Amino acid sequence: MLSRQIADRLRSYETPFYLYDINLLRQTLESVTALSSKYGFKLHYAIKANYDPHILSVIREYGLGADCASGNEVRCAIEAGFSPDGIVYAGVGKKDSEIRYAISQGIFSINCESLQELEVIDRTARELGKVQDIALRINPDIDPKTNSCIDTGQADSKFGISYEEVMANAALIKSYDNIRIRGMHLHIGSQIRELHVFEYLCDKVNAIVDCLSGLGFNFDFVDLGGGLGVNYDIPENEPVPNFASVFTIVNQYLNVSGREVHFEFGRSLVAQCGELITRVLFRKDTATGRKLVVVDASMTELIRPALYGAYHSIENITPREEGKDRYTIVGTACESTDVFNQSLTLPVTSRGDLLSIKSAGAYGMSMASRYNLHDLPGAVYSDEFDR
Ligand code: LLP
Repeated sequence: MLSRQIADRLRSYETPFYLYDINLLRQTLESVTALSSKYGFKLHYAIKANYDPHILSVIREYGLGADCASGNEVRCAIEAGFSPDGIVYAGVGKKDSEIRYAISQGIFSINCESLQELEVIDRTARELGKVQDIALRINPDIDPKTNSCIDTGQADSKFGISYEEVMANAALIKSYDNIRIRGMHLHIGSQIRELHVFEYLCDKVNAIVDCLSGLGFNFDFVDLGGGLGVNYDIPENEPVPNFASVFTIVNQYLNVSGREVHFEFGRSLVAQCGELITRVLFRKDTATGRKLVVVDASMTELIRPALYGAYHSIENITPREEGKDRYTIVGTACESTDVFNQSLTLPVTSRGDLLSIKSAGAYGMSMASRYNLHDLPGAVYSDEFDR
């Protein structure tokens, strides 16, 4: 882990900040692009995971497209140099102005999530004198076996159009003149670690594509979304996620002959290259005997533990005392849920030590807020040290 190797140099930086291991990011990108090209799969990076400009510029070098979730994300991707013809845009609530902007930029696909949205895209494209390529985001009703806060493809979810609704309205959906339905899109959830879920997904997609083809839909791509999970428990064991397994499964089980297969990975590309570095402010004990370590980061820099009960491995990278102790690691925000870990054994930890909160490159900085008027955290990149 990078921070441990350069802990002495990190002492002088103002905390908290994100530390990004650009070499690890490159290794991850080399792995995913080499493996996907073996099967001819197309990749988009879900920029919601992290839109740090330097991270985006490195990812762009590897030829990925971008998956965006708002008009501003589309703009951000274009400004970062992603070509519009590699940009997909999903989102359950796209505003009229966002739809107009996306069409005007000529993006690869708007991934459409309701029948009403189709109507608005068609009308807007007509007003702009364009025909917009879209994909239907289908809700396949699959349990992705992940934290229920981040599952998106079960029947009652707000995401996508139900397959039944598409079947029942096939004629209407195909009737729009300013829309070209080029693809089918699915994204069933995030942090998926039980990979057999991707087998179910492929089985469902095969059945849906067959059935919708029978109804006259002519898809030329299937976009399976993102979702591949990472090892938060022991990140050192799996710094580069297991892209080979998911690609092998999809290659074996998906049967959509002649159609392009796309993925939109976020977390799996950037989670492990980021650490949140924070300094211990205070040590104190509660009346009940709990030993608190108060650090200078909080849910405003990394909200995942407070929002989803997410686990992040934490290490003291500058311990100065002998022995170990058990602590609760809490942040500075005025919220009782602002706890990074309830019960963690660390080397004896004291004021001034630096802690690394690991696997924080995805959905860390991009979900940061200014609650309590905290400053947003800075970023330090490993290639600054290489220069
Ligand atoms: N495509 C779509 C349509 C998505 O909604 C997402 C993530 C992705 C791709 C990328 O998924 P990934 O490969 O990162 O799993 N804030 C949560 C995660 C929310 C994911 C939202 N959608 C967290 O911190 O765990």
